[in-house]
Parts: sequence; structure tokens; C-alpha cells
Amino acid sequence: MRCAVGALCLCSALGLALAYPLKQDGRGGGGKTNGTGSSWHHLGSYPSVEDKEPKQRCSEEGFDAITMDEAGVMLFFKGDLVWKGFAGAAELKNASWPEIQGPVDAALRIHHPDRPSIHDNVYLFQGKHLWAYAQGRLKDGYPRLIEEEFPGIPGDLDAAVECHAQECSHAATVFFFKGTVVYSYDLTTKELKQRSWPSVANCSAAVRWLGRYYCFQGIQFLRFDPVTGQVGANYPRDARDYFMRCPGRGHGHHTQGNATARAIADRCSGRPFQAFFSDDTGRIYAFREGHYFQLDSHRDGWHAWPLKHLWKDLEGDVDAAFSWDNKLYLVQGSQVTIYQTGRGYTRVDGYPRPLQAELGVAEADATFTCPRSQALYIIHGNHLRRVDLELSPGHPGPLQPIPHAHVDGALCTSKGVFLFHGSDFHHYADVDQLIKATAPAPAKSIVVDFFHCPPPHAVGQGAPSLHHPQ
Ligand SMILES: *[C@@H]1O[C@H](CO)[C@@H](O)[C@H](O)[C@H]1NC(C)=O
Ligand SMILES: *[C@@H]1O[C@H](CO)[C@@H](O)[C@H](O)[C@H]1NC(C)=O
Ligand SMILES: *[C@@H]1O[C@H](CO)[C@@H](O)[C@H](O)[C@H]1NC(C)=O
Ligand SMILES: *[C@@H]1O[C@H](CO)[C@@H](O)[C@H](O)[C@H]1NC(C)=O
Repeated sequence: MRCAVGALCLCSALGLALAYPLKQDGRGGGGKTNGTGSSWHHLGSYPSVEDKEPKQRCSEEGFDAITMDEAGVMLFFKGDLVWKGFAGAAELKNASWPEIQGPVDAALRIHHPDRPSIHDNVYLFQGKHLWAYAQGRLKDGYPRLIEEEFPGIPGDLDAAVECHAQECSHAATVFFFKGTVVYSYDLTTKELKQRSWPSVANCSAAVRWLGRYYCFQGIQFLRFDPVTGQVGANYPRDARDYFMRCPGRGHGHHTQGNATARAIADRCSGRPFQAFFSDDTGRIYAFREGHYFQLDSHRDGWHAWPLKHLWKDLEGDVDAAFSWDNKLYLVQGSQVTIYQTGRGYTRVDGYPRPLQAELGVAEADATFTCPRSQALYIIHGNHLRRVDLELSPGHPGPLQPIPHAHVDGALCTSKGVFLFHGSDFHHYADVDQLIKATAPAPAKSIVVDFFHCPPPHAVGQGAPSLHHPQ
């Protein structure tokens, strides 16, 4: 990952696997592009076709093709149009893929980490040809015949989707759909099989999302098992209730006209986060108003989920959070709840209990632990206190001033300490540097430097609170 000189590259600083240097073109500028050939297609540099949204997106006919792009944005293709993300206006397809005239038949994002030359490439299919894009740019030698790249696969496909090895009997695979036939193509051995999956037929589009596999039949969709081809109960369902915002529909439909609810669920809204934590596996979570975001899910798009999705009995806001010794501590007001982490989170008996009784402080604005350390730091107002979780958990050390009047949340990773306030964050190399600082470290933007949000007109990438079809 390349970072602009002098700019903190938060994504790598946090140790996140954000492999998408939006400043790739070397011009800096927070990922803004102006429509020159060197720009990133998914940042949407052309005027939007506003008036066609959402009528066309939400129509019965569904889509020609659906795929994730290399940055975790879901692309919906229909005719000359493309929608980038789960909400927002249509764009002209040829603004991003000028090489392809007319509708595409199928689309997929290759997943084959053993072959970096094709891993994360986006393939678009039309007639007998396919176009391969690496990081938004057409690769040399394309378009080429489908037959050359995938011997035995016919032209005029209906749909295609990649299957990750760990979800596909340990073989990186691509499924191709045509009429009632499903082909599976092993990317390593190049072995081609025809599946007899009677329930997975007539797919007009197919997509993998959050580890699950979906076949679209018009605006209806079904979820299928990529090993057995079995379709889950209660399918087909209507995509307008799950995969996109449509007027008057869906799980999130009560939030349609509610700007507050939308801003909460949109990582790009600039609304403050209340708490962060990093668990023992290095995963980082952020909390905002009854929702959480998992910050390493960028390849599947970013999502705000209600707290109860992970913490069954948790309601309200999380004010501070930290993880230590396979336990997660969530602070709400003057109470703390401890969850045992493992496969999911299990609330420890006897919690919530008063923060004072557990940690020896009455209140906390932010808390953090650093990797491989038993020291907990509690920030309240403009002071920080240290608690030794192993030796004396109920006995915080002395108040130490920090150069911030207030912080919302804090996080410590191998790259240092991050303090969050409003729409900004501040980075310190370590706790020592924070305590010794006489002035705040320079403010960086959470939206721009942390989430690499697109310019405001490319609204499609702000993830709404989507209902995950079970
Ligand atoms: C767009 O970017 C190119 C290359 O960086 C630059 O030469 C051009 O002046 C820019 N155009 C606009 C309208 O900003
Ligand atoms: C892009 O597509 C639109 C709609 O089909 C068309 O009017 C326009 O001329 C195309 N632009 C280019 C550069 O091909
Ligand atoms: C697929 O389409 C064919 C032809 O229209 C139809 O006969 C068949 O029932 C469909 N199969 C499924 C599973 O939808
Ligand atoms: C808007 O959404 C927020 C957050 O879900 C909720 O608290 C509020 O009551 C909603 N307002 C209206 C007018 O529905």
C-alpha cells in the first residue's frame, strides 16, 4: 500500500487489510477523481442519471449482472446503467467501462489468492467475450473469447459468480449459469463440471455476499449452497426488501425518509462514533448509536448492523469498549457488561454491574487496551487513568492530563493510539507520547482518511442498514 508522503495512512496504520490505495494515481486528494483515464472507476466521476433512480432499479425485471468490485462495492448492471452500492443514483455504465458497448450478460470478481495475477480481477461477460479489469482498468489482452479463458464455457451466459475455496470444497471455483445449466469451473485444475442443481435455474444474475451465494431471477432471489446446490427455506424472496432501497419496501423502509437513521447507518456520513475496540484476532469494531460496524469487512462492503446481531441482549448505546484476555467489556453509562469471546459472544453471568465496582471508576468516555498488554487506559474528560487488569483491576492509577478536552472513543493497535472526536481522529505513536503531548496531534478526517469515502455525489457506497437474508 502506498501512502501520500507526510499523510498518515490510517488503513495500514490500523493494521487493516484495506488493500485499496485510493491515492493510487499518485495525485493524492483523498481519492477524488475527475474523469481522466487514470482515475478509479468506482469513485464515480461522471454525472449521475438521477431521474432514473429508483424507478428503474426497483423494477420487476431485475438486473443483467451483479458483482462486488475490487473495493467491496456491489455493482448492479442493467442495460446502459450501473448502480454502485445498495442505494443511490444510476450512472452510465460506459463512464466506468468505456470499452463495453451495450448490456453485459454476467459479472464476477475472481477470488484466487494463490494467483495474484488474477485475484480480485473483475470480469464482465458479453456474448462470446469477456473483459478483465484489475483495479478498475482493462487488462492487456482483453477482451478475449470466453472459450479461451474458460474452455468449455458457452457464450451468451445468464450469470456468473466466484466461489471461494473455503466455501467450495477447498477449490477456488467459478459458477456459470445458462438456462437450467450450472457449470462449475475449477480455477486451479481447470476442471469443468456440470452441476445438476434443479433448484438453481434461470439465474439472471448471481453474487456472493458476506460468504453466501445468491441467484437472482428477475427481482426475486434465492440463496443456494455452493456445494450441494440446495436452496434455503423461504425462497425466492424479493431483492427490493434486502439488496436495495426501494420506496415503501423492505426492512429498512421506515428509515427511508429519515435522514437521522440513514446517517447512523452510513459510515460516510461524518456522524461521530462512540466507541471502538480491537479483539484478539485484530478485528476492529466501531459503535455508533445502537449499531456496530466491523472494520475489516470492506471486501464485502461496509455494513452497519444493529447491536443485537452480535450481542443478543444488548440495547442502547455503547459508550466505551475494550477487549482483554478473550473477554469484551462494553461500557454503557455507569454499567459494564463482560462478554466471553469465542464463536460469538456470550454474556458473563452477573453482568451488567457497576463500573465503579468492576474497574474503580464511575465514568468513562473512552477505554483502550494495547496488544499483548494487561494495561487498560480509561479516558474521562481531559484525563487518562491506567488500570492493571491482571494485578489490580479495581484500582486505577493517578489522573494524567491529556491534551484533549473530550474524546468519544479510543483504540490502540500495534500502530499506536487513536483518539476519536466528532468527525476527526488523532494518532499517537504510543501511550507515552499521548501523555507527554502538550497539544493534540493533528486532526485527521474519519470519513476521508479512515473510510476513504467517495466524493459526495457517489452516494451509492454508503452502506445502509441492510437486512442480511438468513
Ligand atoms: C483532471 O486531472 C488531470 C490529470 O491529473 C488534469 O490534467 C486535469 O486538469 C484535471 N481536470 C480537471 C477538470 O480538474
Ligand atoms: C455512453 O452511453 C450513453 C447511453 O447509451 C451514450 O449516449 C453515450 O454516447 C455513451 N458515451 C460514450 C463515450 O460512449
Ligand atoms: C426455468 O425456465 C424454464 C423455461 O422457462 C422453465 O420451464 C423452468 O420451470 C424454470 N425452472 C426454474 C427452477 O425456475
Ligand atoms: C428517525 O430514526 C431515528 C433512529 O432510528 C429514530 O430514533 C427517530 O425516532 C426517527 N424519527 C422519525 C421521525 O421517525
